[in-house]
Amino acid sequence: MLSQETIDIIKSTVPVLEEHGKTITTVFYKNMFEAHPELLNVFNHANQSQGRQQTALANTVYAAAANIDNLEAILPAVIQIAHKHKSLGITEDQYPIVGYHLLGAIKEVLGDAATPEIISAWGEAYGVIADVFISVEKEMYEQAEAMEGGWRTFKAFTVADKVVESDVITSFYLKPVDGNQLPSYLPGQYITVRVNIPGEEYTLNRQYSLSQALEEDVYRISVKREDECEPNGKVSTYLHRNVNVGDEIEVSVPAGDFYLDPESTTPVTLISGGVGITPMMSMYETIARISPERPVAFLHSARTRAHQAFNERITELDASLENSSVAVLYSEEGDGFITKDFLQEKVLEGSDIYVCGPTPFMQAVINYLYELGHPEEKVHYEFFGPKAELELVTAS
Ligand SMILES: Cc1cc2nc3c(=O)[nH]c(=O)nc-3n(C[C@H](O)[C@H](O)[C@H](O)COP(=O)(O)OP(=O)(O)OC[C@H]3O[C@@H](n4cnc5c(N)ncnc54)[C@H](O)[C@@H]3O)c2cc1C
Ligand code: HEM
Repeated sequence: MLSQETIDIIKSTVPVLEEHGKTITTVFYKNMFEAHPELLNVFNHANQSQGRQQTALANTVYAAAANIDNLEAILPAVIQIAHKHKSLGITEDQYPIVGYHLLGAIKEVLGDAATPEIISAWGEAYGVIADVFISVEKEMYEQAEAMEGGWRTFKAFTVADKVVESDVITSFYLKPVDGNQLPSYLPGQYITVRVNIPGEEYTLNRQYSLSQALEEDVYRISVKREDECEPNGKVSTYLHRNVNVGDEIEVSVPAGDFYLDPESTTPVTLISGGVGITPMMSMYETIARISPERPVAFLHSARTRAHQAFNERITELDASLENSSVAVLYSEEGDGFITKDFLQEKVLEGSDIYVCGPTPFMQAVINYLYELGHPEEKVHYEFFGPKAELELVTAS
């Protein structure tokens, strides 16, 4: 338990941290990677270079500090992050390293303003926050290992099939090298893929949503190649160009708090943009398999027909479902983007709504949904990167 004095110090320094938060985390990462270059095998360098990861960590530290006497309030955020940590195999003994360098960065950035009392209070607070993460993650690892066919962090998989789904998206069917049964997952969850690319100094980790309903012996991911940008996306380009049937990659246990409850009977609206279609395919197939009478609307926006994956499968699933509707807009073929009117017409009343796509897409769609009166607890969304701060209107 923290003393009242420590709590007071923490709360009074939150505004200072907010002001310097991103500078502190930037200094923190620089110092930590200098002292522990092995951690460069775990962190996503593209997220680092775009500042996305620094912002995510800084936001969490403020939120935790502001709620230091009521950490329950940030538990949903902890769970989302813990899923990501679990999928990357983050270990308990790495927390003191992060704590040491975070305190060091606070000292370095705040200078004399960081009195010994402040540093000591933050040291204690970090310990309390870290313990919450460690205990949530410990339970997740134990559950992962205890599942039928489960394992703890990464294991070797073979590419059993590679299927082109569109001009830009290709699916990889992954089977465990040991031939064991695979642990189950919930539709919407993701895995982390870990690869060693020739010429790259560090191991690279990327998350990919599982893109089909549960199968006992195979996981499917569907990857968009990011090779029209500068620099080219490292892992997606490598997977598309160099990873073929018979090749091995390492895969984590499924993780993530963005999922559909397969047992529920509530209507469902799935809204995706671009490659954000992948978790929706898993959800849509699961509904078709488990509860074909469940009302579902599948709404998708793609740039062009050539960019869109799974077209035939969507038509097939739609036909097999009793209460399904499908609407696809091709933004570069005259349909424009998803609008508020479109959503007003297509979103099912009282439905659980799942949204995934590029950040500007999610920002627009979620705001429209809130403006149309859909409550926050009904709107679920997934970022294909570190969770970003969206500028959202207040939901009803
Ligand atoms: C939960 C989750 C689920 C996901 N599911 C899917 C999925 O189903 N399918 C899918 O395709 N993707 C998915 N992703 C995204 C995926 O994890 C990768 O981020 C994506 O494949 C790009 O990785 P990459 O290594 O190819 O690109 P990276 O090398 O990571 O580059 C990403 C972007 O950053 C830019 N960049 C890189 N370095 C720099 C730099 N130094 N300066 C400026 N810009 C830079 C690149 O140009 C590129 O645009 C998911 C992500 C998450 C978090
Ligand atoms: C209390 C301490 C910690 C906090 C508050 C924290 C916070 C976060 C946050 C907010 C994210 C982004 C989640 C998202 O993707 O939306 C994240 C991701 C991550 N964290 Fe932590 N973390 C902590 C400890 C650690 C430790 C000890 C490690 C291991 C060295 C670690 C490694 C990572 C990695 C590798 C990612 C993914 C980075 C990426 O994809 O760019 N974290 N963490």
